[in-house]
Amino acid sequence: MTAHAISRLAIDDRNLFIHHPDGNAVSAADVAALSPRLEGLRAKIKTWQQATQCSFLNLPAITDLNEIKRQGQRIARTFKRVVVFGIGGSSLGGEMLVRTLGDRDPKTVAVRFYDNVDPSTLDELNRLDIKETLFLVISKSGNTAETLAQFLTMLPRMEHALGDDAVGQHSLFITENKQGALYELAQRLAVPTIVHPPIGGRYSVLSVVGLLPAYIAGVDIDGVMEGARAMARRCADPDILQNPAFYNGAAQYLHAEHGRTISVVMPYADNMRFIVNWFRQLWAESLGKIDAQGRHRGLTPTEAHGVTDQHSQLQLLLEGPDDKLVTFLSNPSFRYLGLRIPMRFQDIPAIKALAGHTIGELFVSELKATRTTLTRRGRPNRTLTLLDHDAYAIGELIVLLEMETVVVAELMGVDPFDQPAVEESKTLTREYLACVTHAHDLED
Ligand code: PA5
Repeated sequence: MTAHAISRLAIDDRNLFIHHPDGNAVSAADVAALSPRLEGLRAKIKTWQQATQCSFLNLPAITDLNEIKRQGQRIARTFKRVVVFGIGGSSLGGEMLVRTLGDRDPKTVAVRFYDNVDPSTLDELNRLDIKETLFLVISKSGNTAETLAQFLTMLPRMEHALGDDAVGQHSLFITENKQGALYELAQRLAVPTIVHPPIGGRYSVLSVVGLLPAYIAGVDIDGVMEGARAMARRCADPDILQNPAFYNGAAQYLHAEHGRTISVVMPYADNMRFIVNWFRQLWAESLGKIDAQGRHRGLTPTEAHGVTDQHSQLQLLLEGPDDKLVTFLSNPSFRYLGLRIPMRFQDIPAIKALAGHTIGELFVSELKATRTTLTRRGRPNRTLTLLDHDAYAIGELIVLLEMETVVVAELMGVDPFDQPAVEESKTLTREYLACVTHAHDLED
């Protein structure tokens, strides 16, 4: 596949197939040869697309945006701030949309995500004006310890500030499990509840889970979903040469088979970092599994941040082990942005090359230089180019990355939608807590 623009997301995958000094390369023909192994996935895609199916691929078509807007408008009319409690798939997608596409107008309702139980961070909540705040609590299972603890520790403060009866007016829960603790709390505290779709957290961003906080924060959710629908159509194409997720997913799988099991995402745009946070969970939790033969599989997602990490990780990417594949995220508008470096001091050699150029020109030149240097050394990389404020392009990117994950999982022989091993740690946390009478009991 050559460089091509898909609507507003350009995928340049040519450098996935570069010459390798030791011959350890992947070719476009190798990718095409994997096509028969995607037969099972093609059948699944047909099922996922059926109108009655709630699947990650179908969410762009079936999610009720009018209902999300109705809820969002009511919240925006009533509150100045929304605090989202949730973790993993219940927060990362929404936070990505809010922080990447959210309205920076101070009149827009502020939406803040708390996805940890670091006590010093949660202390911020002591300074909140609770009367102006809605607490949006998101948990598919309704039993997640961190999320429940966040809400339960707020509850006495809410009751004190609002009176017992008003807690329900300042809270909204999104949950699926009617046997879960969150659902039970909703009943006892008269908190309205929205049903979480029957879809795993890390694939739920294009449902009410991600879209409601996004809409409240001023995100163009129609644009996101339009882009997502366009990419969902492309990602359902059975032809591996036409389907960008089949093609790029298969190429990443082949590179992993050649030892490149570390997936480095390198955004050259500060606010695209939240895309990487969301992607890391998607990639890690979906692929890190034991396959049917008992083999430990998975690709390790990691971030390098352009340009900052050129002065931190680039040396490793260039001359360290050949175990990485780099995906650059690039914003084409940056070359036109930024202040101009004055023409003065050109007699100083280090300033001469900079003089007269904008900060944006420097930024984009550094991306090009990093990419070329990697390519010259046979280090595979690809570039996804999009405007960081383009809702349509972000919608496309979300579906592309979800489908690539599913393609790699299919080829590896693991289930991308479960996370069987994390249960042990959750159970142990509860067991440790049960033994704690005083904080010092937790000393290692
Ligand atoms: O993607 C997933 O399934 C997980 O990361 C969950 O989103 C995370 O564990 C939170 O679960 P819950 O939404 O049940 O609170």
